[in-house]
Formats: sequence, C-alpha cells, structure tokens
Amino acid sequence: MTNPTEYRQRREQLMAKIGSGTAIFRSAPTAVMHNDVEYAYRQDSDFFYLTGFNEAAAVAVLAPHHEEHKFVLFVQPKDLEKETWHGYRAGVEGAKELYGADEAFPIAELAEKLPKYLEKADRIYYHFGRDRSFDQTVLNHWQRLMATYPKRGTGPTAIEDSNIILHPMRLVKSETELALMRKAANISVAAHNRAQEFAKPGRYEYEIQAEIEHTFGLNGCTPAYPSIVASGYNSCVLHYIENNRQMQENDLLLIDAGCACDYYNADITRTFPVSGKFTAEQQIIYDLVLQAQLQAISQVYPGNPYSKIHETAVRVLVEGLMDLKLLVGDIEEIIKEEKYKPFYMHRTGHWLGLDVHDVGVYQYGENPQVLQAGQVLTVEPGIYISPYIKPVEGQPEVPEKWRGIGVRIEDDVLVTLESQEVLTAGVPK
Ligand code: GLY
Ligand code: MN
Ligand code: MN
Repeated sequence: MTNPTEYRQRREQLMAKIGSGTAIFRSAPTAVMHNDVEYAYRQDSDFFYLTGFNEAAAVAVLAPHHEEHKFVLFVQPKDLEKETWHGYRAGVEGAKELYGADEAFPIAELAEKLPKYLEKADRIYYHFGRDRSFDQTVLNHWQRLMATYPKRGTGPTAIEDSNIILHPMRLVKSETELALMRKAANISVAAHNRAQEFAKPGRYEYEIQAEIEHTFGLNGCTPAYPSIVASGYNSCVLHYIENNRQMQENDLLLIDAGCACDYYNADITRTFPVSGKFTAEQQIIYDLVLQAQLQAISQVYPGNPYSKIHETAVRVLVEGLMDLKLLVGDIEEIIKEEKYKPFYMHRTGHWLGLDVHDVGVYQYGENPQVLQAGQVLTVEPGIYISPYIKPVEGQPEVPEKWRGIGVRIEDDVLVTLESQEVLTAGVPK
C-alpha cells in the first residue's frame, strides 16, 4: 500500500474540485472465470487511486460539504467464516483506521445511509458504464432525491461524469507512482533481455512467454496484459496471443510484454531475428520502424502537442515505404488519406499508468492535449506486412519478399521538465 497520506491528498485534491457535489466510486466486481472459480481480484483503478483499498463490494463516497464525514467507505464487514474462504477483510473498523475513512458502514447499509450524503449536494459525480447494476442503484437514489426535492429545496440536480475531474489527476504521475512504474519497467526490461537470450530456432513461442513471465513472477509482479510472443507471420497479427508456434530459422520474433507491480504497468515491444541475423528485407523494415520510433520519441517534451508523436512516426514510415516503392504518389495525400494504413493501422501510443491504456484525454476537439512533465506514454510505431496484405486502390501490389514481416518497437516514456526519459531503455534495439 502506498503511503496513506498520498491517498488523502488525492481525495482532498478531488474534493476541492467538486465543492458542493458528492462523488461516488464503486469497487470492481469479482470476475468469474467459470463455475465458482474466480479470477484474481483486480480493483477498479479510480477506486484504488483514491483509497488504496483493495477489496470488492465496496463504495467510496466523497462529500466535501459534509460537516464531519467527507470520506465515507461502505465495506464488507468482518466475517470469520467468509474470510476463511475468501480472505481477510479490513472491515468497518479497518476502513477507518487503516484507510482513513471519516466514517464507515457495512455495505448492506448503503441504501439506508447513502441519501444522507446526497441530499445536500448540488450534484453527483459518478461514472456510468462499469457496473450496470450499481448504475441503476445510483439512478434510483437520484430519482428518489429528485422526487422529494420540493420538500427540501436541496439535492443533486445533475449527475456529472467523475472521469472529467479525476482523470486529469491520474494523467500526471506523482513520485510514488513513478517509483512503481520504474519498478515495473525495470522488471519488464529484465524479462525481455532474458527472452532475447533464450530465443532460438526450434523453440516454441510459449517457452519464451514462460521465460518472460517467470521473471515477472520472481519479482512479485504479474503480466500487465496477455503477453504477445509472435514469430514469423504471426508478427503481423496485432493481438496474437496463442503463442504456440515453433520458431524457424530466419524468423523475426515480436514480443510485446510488460508487467504490473502494485497495479502500475509497463508495456514493451521488441522485435528481433531468432537466429541472430536479419534477412536483408527484415533489416530494412526494422531500421525504418526504429527511425520512426526514435524521431517520435524526440517529440516527447513539455509543451509539445501530443499529436506530434503520431504525426512524426507516420511521416517517417511513409517516406520509408515510398523509398521502397511500397507506396507511390504524393506524400501529403498518402498521409491525409491514410493510404499507409494497410501497413500501419494503429496509433503510435497511449497513456500508461494504473491502466495499460491509461486514462486521460488525447485531443480536445480541434486542440491536441499538450504534453506536461509527469505524464507517461508509450511510443510504439510498427510496420506489418501481412501475407495477405491488400494495398488501397491505386497502390502497388506488395512483392512476395516483403510479406510476413511484422515489426513493432515500443518504449515507455516519461515527460520530464526538460524533455523525456525512456523508462525502458535497458532493452537493446
Ligand atoms: N500491449 C498493448 C499495447 O501495446 O497497447
Ligand atoms: Mn504493448
Ligand atoms: Mn502499448
């Protein structure tokens, strides 16, 4: 658990923004794998960010306008028998003592107690869409408060999405968060380096996956997402996770794997020849993607628009593909009409943090998000020449020798006060 003071500061920061509103956050539900077997519990990131509380069936209420109870937790009460099956609980007392709640109640009392924290609020902050049944609970409370509004003349007259106030906070990482992200990055770097040593023709993709995840596990971390270990033509499938092919001489191996440490994620991709040497075509495509990545990374600095990163990568890739006669025509038109998309169909990165595809706005209407110190993002251009590639109309057929080559290079980059720091630079490229 991160320092409780930091969670308190986050709540205070949020409360300063909601003034006379009340914010409601719901814990993640337990996810069922199949018949009575559950996945490992994964707390909702917003809930965790504000509370550090890692149990299911909980609700956090932030009511800055309340005299005494500004932070209220509804939790599962202590229950010896249930805890014997499902794990220890903080309980109502623990919610106050360990997690700093001003008041706490058993979750079963939510319906009775919640209205107290809503009836003087001018609005509710809540994000719909994560938990249908709880969405309905919130709506029912709201409806009842509006029905009785004439009697009081107070109560929430609107529901606002809590994302809009909370996610800009999550987008800029604190030192504590960065320490965890550096840890996740370092362990993921070690895992990639181990995988590169271990890979050779004849081995199966899943053996490499096991080496990577072994390193995660030995360090107390878990895969941040299903590891992608894609050799040969599998490297052209963006979300390939079967990982069951035997690697051959002259294959490229694309590994996209990263770990989560205390819920903070790393996300790294490297592509390399399993037999240690690129073919001529592989080398050309690799160098092109690398150039695109390096130039895109150089666009990461405070004050620069986020969109510059993708624009830079696209331009380098398109120029390269034109040099190879894989794209023909006017470069501006190719870029504007996205004629490169059969080769490069995704964006150049995303925010990274408590979620792998972390929260935060990329674009405000016509205006891009402007980079600022403390943001962390991935930079991950690629070229994927599927064996079945179909260029857009007017573009040449792709000669056989290029087909089946897929390359992506992905690093995690922190925006610093001056420029940028690549957190995952320890894996060679
Ligand atoms: N591994 C997921 C991603 O690169 O976005
Ligand atoms: Mn990735
Ligand atoms: Mn990524």
